[in-house]
Amino acid sequence: MNIETSLSHITKYAPFEDPSGASHFPIYNTGTFDLKKQSGDKIYDYTRSDNPTREMLENLFADVENAAGCVCTHTGIAAVALLFETVLKANSSVLVEADCYGGTFRLLKIFQDKYNVKIHFADFTKNEDLENILSSNKIDLVLCESPTNPGLKIIDIKEVADISHKYNALFAIDNSLATFISQKPLDLGADFSLFSTTKYISGHGSVVAGAIAAKTKELSNEIHYYANAHGRSQNPMDVFLISLGIPTLKIRMKEHQENSIKIATFLEEQDYILKVTHPGLKSHPQYELAKKQMKYIPGVFCVDFNSVELAEKFIENTKIFGEKCSFGSPDSRVEIPAKISHASFSKEELAAIGITDSTVRFSIGLESVDDLIQDINQAVK
Ligand SMILES: Cc1ncc(COP(=O)(O)O)c(C=O)c1O
Repeated sequence: MNIETSLSHITKYAPFEDPSGASHFPIYNTGTFDLKKQSGDKIYDYTRSDNPTREMLENLFADVENAAGCVCTHTGIAAVALLFETVLKANSSVLVEADCYGGTFRLLKIFQDKYNVKIHFADFTKNEDLENILSSNKIDLVLCESPTNPGLKIIDIKEVADISHKYNALFAIDNSLATFISQKPLDLGADFSLFSTTKYISGHGSVVAGAIAAKTKELSNEIHYYANAHGRSQNPMDVFLISLGIPTLKIRMKEHQENSIKIATFLEEQDYILKVTHPGLKSHPQYELAKKQMKYIPGVFCVDFNSVELAEKFIENTKIFGEKCSFGSPDSRVEIPAKISHASFSKEELAAIGITDSTVRFSIGLESVDDLIQDINQAVK
């Protein structure tokens, strides 16, 4: 079945049929289930461990990611935490793309300080660097985003999966930007695909949540075990909110792509801009790989203004764009990563991945492009 059909019929993923034929599967908003009232193979006892509403979303994500199983988590960063809790032990080593979400970076530092986890950062577009680190260290986990946030680098998922497996490391992709509608990391060799459903998947900015899908039954059992033990699972009300956005994911992604390419192209022509980094523009160094690896290019890109003052003035003056973190909502937004989403990086760490105080990250929504361009024009005057 094609993915559009699956995403439009979510109730078919419910663990049992609702007798009313309701278009939305009920929200089982309960903590506990009566063991005496159940029969059959599947028994529910406690919502932290298992819940029918959450199971529906987990079944759907596992299917569309081609995974053996999935856990829906209470936030996207909880999916990252669950990955670490599942795979890492004290003194483990991880290899992480240096250009990563600020919350992931902060969490890694916590694992480093508390559990002596050794972190190796690298540029994942340089296979030789990856080979060097993997061949001279015992790496347990390799992790990257693609596209990366905030640098919008495209990582060749198949190549990195092959290199990781050559050295017996597990490979996880943070698929928050592209989503499973655009790319399926497990098909390209990754062991885990995790994502913040807060972004494009919920699509309406109304909830924070996440998920992690595992390629094998064994890894799936492990994430379920640790999700229950560490209390990482998502509550059923939030599952319902996430499920409302899912049928429209594809049409929204197409629109985010189209609108953002128009705005990025416009900005590239302005003399107050030093650089626009959008994987959907020919000027992006991995434009061809982006086209090959992703069906739709997400609507997030970075712009280097020619001064910090102008970047700040622009954000201050915009009327339609909110100054907000996160991305993937219907409303367009801008932020300075160094100040907000990536404040856990030092200036030097950000400079190493090409991000400065005059870099503004855009997330383009579903508004009229003409209105957005007018807003940009008046904001820089
Ligand atoms: C790439 C990426 N991964 C994970 C997260 C964490 O997701 P959440 O904010 O839902 O916890 C974010 C949040 O911005 C992100 O950008």
